[in-house]
Amino acid sequence: MIKIKQKSDNLLDHKTECLILPCTEEKKPGQTLKAVDAVLNGAITAAFENKRFTGKPNQTLLLNSAGCLKADNLLLVGVGKAKEVTAEKICQASGAAAKVAERSNFKSVSIFLNDSCFDQIAKGKGKLYGELSGAVAEGAGLALYHFDNYKSTDEKDDPPSRVGQLTLIPASKVRQATVEKSIARAEKIVNAVHSARDLVSHPGNTATPTFLAEHAKKMARKNKITCKVLGKKEMEKLGMGALLGVSRGSHEPPALIVLEYYGAAKKKAPTVIVGKGITFDTGGISLKPGAKMDEMKMDMSGAATTLAALQAISSLKLPINVIGIVAAAENMPGGSAIKPGDILKSLSGKTIEVLNTDAEGRLVLADALTYAQRYKPKEVIDLATLTGAVLMALGHQGAAVVGNNENMIARLKKSGDATGERVWELPLWEEFEKAVKSDIADLKNIASPGVGAGTITAAAFLKPFAGDQPWTHIDIAGTAWGYDKPYTTKGASGYGVRLLIHYLEHPK
Ligand code: BES
Ligand code: MN
Ligand code: ZN
Repeated sequence: MIKIKQKSDNLLDHKTECLILPCTEEKKPGQTLKAVDAVLNGAITAAFENKRFTGKPNQTLLLNSAGCLKADNLLLVGVGKAKEVTAEKICQASGAAAKVAERSNFKSVSIFLNDSCFDQIAKGKGKLYGELSGAVAEGAGLALYHFDNYKSTDEKDDPPSRVGQLTLIPASKVRQATVEKSIARAEKIVNAVHSARDLVSHPGNTATPTFLAEHAKKMARKNKITCKVLGKKEMEKLGMGALLGVSRGSHEPPALIVLEYYGAAKKKAPTVIVGKGITFDTGGISLKPGAKMDEMKMDMSGAATTLAALQAISSLKLPINVIGIVAAAENMPGGSAIKPGDILKSLSGKTIEVLNTDAEGRLVLADALTYAQRYKPKEVIDLATLTGAVLMALGHQGAAVVGNNENMIARLKKSGDATGERVWELPLWEEFEKAVKSDIADLKNIASPGVGAGTITAAAFLKPFAGDQPWTHIDIAGTAWGYDKPYTTKGASGYGVRLLIHYLEHPK
């Protein structure tokens, strides 16, 4: 990601191509902005007065400073009403402004950490100022993401505009240390989100199960994490028939990736995060239609979020124990592929009638969730691009959560609201659990006809494998891709990393 610095400077003397000024809807630009406004002969006040700028969330207005300031241009960005400012709103505004600056071809960009909108709610308290400064860094860092690993050098002769330098300007010298800390933290989070976006953006012929395993090993080595990878042989020995069944139609060998992070005493029960890692989902013998099938390279988004979350947890040194488990396989219709009607024996011993090979995510998760029980977890969270049905329920606006513990879901909801990575609960009524019981095996991988509620029946299938401790399933099929926020870019969103970090940092 772009390196973010901080520099305590008098705004009038600060040299940059583009000075971003966050503004609230109230027409009180505050002490510091007043000075800027005066030098500009009242240009900011005028913009408010003739309504070219109102300060509404994420609204921007670019003004040339015509030599009146050391900054060549001013970019006003709205953060909404002063009383309603939150970290998420600041994050969005910062992302919106960073994108405008980039499109305007500015290479050096600075953002003023405006007292007049921060401190109205911060009331001079360092903690909130730090949080909001961090949100500025996060929003801009996330918005300036690019994935161009596959652009040849010829194309790069005409490089698109990129911001090369981003500077945060604390409102006063006293704030410097706080801002420094906030930037360091934001960088860790942004790096993790970007690594998730990278993994998801890679095409299926690069990001194979083996590639995910290699990435996990490298990432673990750089952080204080141990990583072990179970291959086909080890899985056969353990009896992971469900995961192995899915991978049988592909030439790519499957992988079960296990990451262990101990930030607390080893005997403290860990949180286990489980991610669906289907590196490409053709549907298998129950083949998907051709339109947009390319997007099914994103079917390992749960895995990407899991790996990135562990990276962030470790770099932030969270004082907790967390295990990450990724079930990675490619779902292909090869000659040895499983067929509709086949029965698989899962690691738990439960048998599964596969009535649709395109409902493969729940099969690999079944074995990964059973494997999670080895760690006697305090709680289990799984993330998966599990159903198209979640797009019917929530569109791209939030993920569905289904689980067995109200407290856990309530806390996840709070974290979702705080980070903008919202979740919404769907009910796991027992009728849905009945709907996935098979006539000839223990379970079937799709519900009986006419039951509907595809997202819930998928979760109902997972429940018998999830254990008795608190467990929540998060269906990210609608949010991992095409999640449109001022700080996201087209394609992979990295959804879930910021949600999980917030959740883990706010226990109880
Ligand atoms: N990976 C898909 C779900 C998906 C759909 C992810 C759209 C992202 C965008 C999953 O494996 C799948 O195919 N689910 C089926 C289940 C059905 C066969 C019961 C679905 O949702 O259609
Ligand atoms: Mn599928
Ligand atoms: Zn899938």
